[in-house]
Amino acid sequence: MQSTFSLVILSCICVTLADNKASLPPYITACDIDDKNLATCVREQIIASLPKFTKGIPELKVPAIDPINLDDIKIDGNGLTLTFTEAIMEGLSDSVLTDLKERFVLKFKSNFTLKAKYEVDGRILILPIQGKGDAFVYAKGVEVEISSKFDHTKKNNADHLKLVMPTYKYDVERTTFDLRNLFNGNKQLADTTLQFANQNWKQLMDDLAPPAIKQIVVTGVKAINKFFGAIPINKLVIGYKQRL
Ligand SMILES: *[C@@H]1O[C@H](CO)[C@@H](O)[C@H](O)[C@H]1NC(C)=O
Repeated sequence: MQSTFSLVILSCICVTLADNKASLPPYITACDIDDKNLATCVREQIIASLPKFTKGIPELKVPAIDPINLDDIKIDGNGLTLTFTEAIMEGLSDSVLTDLKERFVLKFKSNFTLKAKYEVDGRILILPIQGKGDAFVYAKGVEVEISSKFDHTKKNNADHLKLVMPTYKYDVERTTFDLRNLFNGNKQLADTTLQFANQNWKQLMDDLAPPAIKQIVVTGVKAINKFFGAIPINKLVIGYKQRL
C-alpha cells in the first residue's frame, strides 16, 4: 500500500516535471482571452519577449535569429554578377516593433549589418566593378511587415498555434556597401567605384534585398512556429477553448 502510494506521488511529480518542460519562459506571461482577442494576446507576448526571443530559447529548442546565417545570395543580371557567401546578418534584437495588428501583422524596423565573403564582376550602371574579398553591408531603417494567418495543429493531443502563408513587404531607408579588396586592392579604382556604388545603392539593393529579406522572414516565422510548437495554446492563452 505504502509503495503504491509513493508510486502515485512519484508519477504525479514526473507528470508535473514533464509538463513544466513546456512551460513559458519567465519573460512571457500568459494572457487571458476573456479580456482581449487572440491577436492582441499574442501581440503583447511578442512585444515583451522579442529582445530575448531573437537570442533563442534553448530549453524550447527555439533557435536564435540574431545573428542569422544566410544562405548564399547570388545576383546575376543587368550585366552584374555578385555573390555573397558565408553571410551573417545581425540586428533583429534591436528591432523596434512599429505595428502589430489584428490578424497577425508584425511590423518592425531594424538596422542590419551583413558580413560575408563577396565576389563581383560586371558593371553597376556604367561603371565596371570587379573583386573578391570581405563584404560589410549596412542597411539602415529596414522596415519589414509580415502578415500571416493563424492556424492550428495538434501535437500530443494539445492544440498549438501556427503561422501559415506569411506574406511580407519591406522598405529600406539607406544602404552602405563596404566591399574590401575591390580591383585586387587598387585603392583609387576601388574608392571611386565604391563611392559610385553607394550613390546608387538602390540599384544594388533592388537585387540584393529580396533574397536577403525573404530569408529573414522565413527564418523568423520558423522560429516563431517552433515556439508555438513547444507551448500548447492553453498555456499561452488562458481560457482558450475552441478552434478560432
Ligand atoms: C538605426 O540607427 C539610427 C542611427 O544611425 C538610429 O537613429 C535608429 O534608432 C536605429 N534604429 C534601430 C531600429 O535601432
